[in-house]
Amino acid sequence: MPPPRDAAPSGSRTAGPDSPRRAAPAIALRGVVKRFGAFTAVDGLDLDVPEGIVMGLLGPNGAGKSTTMRMLTAQSRADAGEITVLGHAVPRAAKRARALMGVVPQHDNLDEELTVAENLEVFTHLYRVPRAHRAAAVQRALRIAHLEDRRDTRTDKLSGGMRRRLLIARGLVHRPRLALLDEPTVGLDPQVRQELWGVVTGLRDDGVTVLMSTHYIEEAERLSDEVALMAKGRVVVRGAPADLVAAHAGATVEEFRPGPDGPDALEQRVRAAGLASRRTGAHVAVLRAEALPPSLRDTLGAGDARAATLEDVFVALTGEAVE
Ligand SMILES: Nc1ncnc2c1ncn2[C@@H]1O[C@H](COP(=O)(O)OP(=O)(O)OP(=O)(O)O)[C@@H](O)[C@H]1O
Ligand SMILES: [Mg+2]
Repeated sequence: MPPPRDAAPSGSRTAGPDSPRRAAPAIALRGVVKRFGAFTAVDGLDLDVPEGIVMGLLGPNGAGKSTTMRMLTAQSRADAGEITVLGHAVPRAAKRARALMGVVPQHDNLDEELTVAENLEVFTHLYRVPRAHRAAAVQRALRIAHLEDRRDTRTDKLSGGMRRRLLIARGLVHRPRLALLDEPTVGLDPQVRQELWGVVTGLRDDGVTVLMSTHYIEEAERLSDEVALMAKGRVVVRGAPADLVAAHAGATVEEFRPGPDGPDALEQRVRAAGLASRRTGAHVAVLRAEALPPSLRDTLGAGDARAATLEDVFVALTGEAVE
């Protein structure tokens, strides 16, 4: 498993005024709106992704993560706002931007009738990999996907996990500067998921910017320099995982079993003391439990203490469960 991140990345990497080119974010979204009929899926979204970082995009189902990714590639057009990707305005200069981006969509759109290698080969053409480099690019992608021994297998004969690995490798076949990964690890077995974490870490080490949505919070926490938490089409909060945990959930979370007056009463008393809580099954978890006033603590009975996590932040800020 890759080690957790320890460096503080974005701030320290942001270049000063003497080097304006490096200071430009890889992705800049300003006031972006996307409507589907009367429904607003993305609602004035502002987000900068600095170059060279892994940014995790978290949010409940329907938060607008995939819609945002589709607007970055101009598969979908914003109704308002500005989008810049690697210095190119989207959708106006989307062709140029797309050539520098690798996209792994949430929904599998592999060509069933082609073999594994042919699926990759097609994308070397689409992404304009020079003819002389195409075979090597396919070979490298096969290696990333661990599908070297399946290169001539028709795609409809692959297992679900193999298809997803192929989908990921296909998006990386042209060595993009920016990778958009929309829930890349869904359906992968734990071992392959961890291998993919290695791929993401490797991309970052090569200077590739990665925007990755995921419902696996532990994965986001482990891989991301920063996470952006989305809900209802906006970014609720962003920052380094450890900073977000410290700011919104404190050091310790303590879980209490409600007494005869039930969980609502317990939560009310906790909130009256200025602390946040969330339900975890039959229990009430108190965030920043280190700040519980002793007089209140005495009324709560014995609790189970644990370290606060990004999941606590997620639930506290979006009011929703993770999946
Ligand atoms: N083509 C479309 N037509 C109508 N509504 C759409 C369309 N695409 C997305 N939506 C709606 O926009 C909202 C945001 O969808 P989106 O797929 O971006 O969410 P998400 O954050 O990726 O969710 P998930 O975690 O489930 O993948 C949802 O309510 C969805 O139903
Ligand atoms: Mg999605």
